Amino acid sequence: MNVSIRNAIISDIPSIKSILSQYILETELVEDNIDQFIVAKNRGRIVGCACLDTGAGVVELRSIAVLPGWKNKGLGRRLLETLEQRAKGMTGRIYVRTTARGFFEKMGFRALDNSQKPVLWQDCAECDRFDVCMQVPMVLELR
Ligand SMILES: CC(C)(COP(=O)(O)OP(=O)(O)OC[C@H]1O[C@@H](n2cnc3c(N)ncnc32)[C@H](O)[C@@H]1OP(=O)(O)O)[C@@H](O)C(=O)NCCC(=O)NCCS
Repeated sequence: MNVSIRNAIISDIPSIKSILSQYILETELVEDNIDQFIVAKNRGRIVGCACLDTGAGVVELRSIAVLPGWKNKGLGRRLLETLEQRAKGMTGRIYVRTTARGFFEKMGFRALDNSQKPVLWQDCAECDRFDVCMQVPMVLELR
């Protein structure tokens, strides 16, 4: 697999948004958080992305996605492991809110009780879709 992973730059924004929108993942925050994104590139094309949100509150993995034709080739693992290395030294654990529970369990994350969401995230506490939200809170202890 001839794929390199590097920090995202501003000109990557349209490609990142295109990948995220294929899975109906949030795209509105990409511009403001571009410094926290990494991208995976094959032959000049962005084929995957991920973001480590180190803003307010917990350190959170967001927006991890690979193009449909690139699934199950180990790329999600590489993106996650790259951000894990980045997170070490700044935190002891990484959180995620996700519908891809199986992938994150494979990667060593453990599911938390849903009641933890409003405790960990202010936007969950204020969300009027909390009762119907399918995103599972999960945590990875870094060692
Ligand atoms: C989640 C996603 C990023 C995983 O990327 P990927 O490149 O397909 O995953 P990998 O090939 O690196 O898989 C790593 C391991 O997880 C497993 N895995 C991948 N997706 C899985 C899933 N949905 N359920 C269970 N296991 C899964 C793989 O089989 C592999 O296991 P192995 O190491 O035993 O072989 C990708 O499926 C995707 O883009 N999904 C849509 C977007 C999305 O929902 N993102 C989550 C936002 S929080």
